[in-house]
Amino acid sequence: MSVHEEQVKSTKKVFVETWGCQMNVADSESMLGMLKARAYETTDKAEEADLVLLNTCHIREKATHKVLSRLGTLRQVAEKNPKMKIAVTGCVAQAEGEKLLTKADNIDILVGPGKIHDLTKLIDQHAETGRPATALGFAKDRGAEGHIEPGPLNQPAGEKPTLSGKSEISRYVNIAQGCDNFCTFCVVPFTRGREVSRSPQEILNECQRLVAEGAREITLLGQNVNSYGLDLVRDHKLPETSEGPFVKLLRSVAELPELDRLRFTTSNPHDFTKPIADLFRTHRRLGRYIHLPVQAGNDEVLERMKRKVTVAEYWERIHWLRDVDPEIALSTDLIVGFPGETDEQFEDTLKLVEAVRYSFIYAFKYSPRKGTAAARFREQVPEEVKSKRLAALNAIQDRITLETNQAEIGRVREVLCHYQSKKEAGVYYGRTEQFRLVRIASPVDLIGRLVQAEITDCNKTALVGRLL
Ligand code: 5AD
Ligand code: SF4
Repeated sequence: MSVHEEQVKSTKKVFVETWGCQMNVADSESMLGMLKARAYETTDKAEEADLVLLNTCHIREKATHKVLSRLGTLRQVAEKNPKMKIAVTGCVAQAEGEKLLTKADNIDILVGPGKIHDLTKLIDQHAETGRPATALGFAKDRGAEGHIEPGPLNQPAGEKPTLSGKSEISRYVNIAQGCDNFCTFCVVPFTRGREVSRSPQEILNECQRLVAEGAREITLLGQNVNSYGLDLVRDHKLPETSEGPFVKLLRSVAELPELDRLRFTTSNPHDFTKPIADLFRTHRRLGRYIHLPVQAGNDEVLERMKRKVTVAEYWERIHWLRDVDPEIALSTDLIVGFPGETDEQFEDTLKLVEAVRYSFIYAFKYSPRKGTAAARFREQVPEEVKSKRLAALNAIQDRITLETNQAEIGRVREVLCHYQSKKEAGVYYGRTEQFRLVRIASPVDLIGRLVQAEITDCNKTALVGRLL
């Protein structure tokens, strides 16, 4: 056997599906990094995979159901591909625990989001015993050694499972796990545990490595990025400073040479401080776009959600940002039909959306999650009312999204080009500083380049740019 044949034989294939938030995307990257070190390569066909990795999300309803139904279809795939092993990771694994093994008999490995560093160990364990191998629990249990560096792929997040890599230009870096906020609708504190921040040096090293590998944009990730490091200060691992550990971290990453753009998400309005907004004045590399979930436009609803900010305080943050840069783009998350939400209270959400003029929103029907406070609230809103409210909200935002995109026509924007169209030769996609997607035709390769483009056309999802 030639050396080449030897290598081909020893290479294993992994097929990954990622549901849910960017934290999951980052976790999938980390797991792919570990698997790559074990000579795995990625495939987009489950039929030829040695390992199928389902990285799951538990944020809204039917989460477990969706995973079980996917496992059902994989059963048929396994008939043609008997070597295939299945790993279920992410928040459904954590929330359901070993119960999931009794609901589906084709899970070989079960890993909670706090234990992804055990993945390869579990693969070995399963190979040895032939029995399901599991690791559940939170990041806090794992001490300092826990974090794994991300792998080579970067995937867009979304409600639907996403596959394969699109861009190595833009990379995610996890800065903290978990959340301490216990908003009354949310399962995250239960599936990902309390907030645990990584050390600033570790984060900076990772960013430096990614930039050396060719990343031009980095997005710092946390369930609640603005409260980054408060746990380290409390545990005396970082000194107390007036501007706070998150601002300090942003400053140090933003100053890395060769990094064109720095973004961060998700911002909780409660912890979004004026020094964070002021940093946009001095640091041009900070992307001019913030995802600032408000959840509702009415103070009573916000109070029952335990969001800890009022609508007026939310506006205050927007003004801090727009005073620094009036063009800063915003997006948000909204929940309709939260228990007890009246028609009038919902109208307040519509008014807020009209007034803020987000570039886009993620709107969801409230979905009761077991173990959360709001699931026990009386006055659950009927499903038909939730559906009507969701449609009304999305209709308003669709118009605003189109209008805000149309307002870009005629402007010259700086675009960081991320990837090439798979369907059309000579077509590239990138994002403006305000995070708007731009399609640009070019005879030369634009990937990884910052270019100037005049916006000539648009639809709801993307702008069209003319290369200058
Ligand atoms: N029901 C509906 N939407 C939810 N989200 C979180 N929990 C729920 C729930 N129980 C939404 C919030 C959050 C986003 C990630 O998902 O808007 O910001
Ligand atoms: Fe969930 Fe609230 Fe924490 Fe966000 S801040 S993860 S909505 S508990």
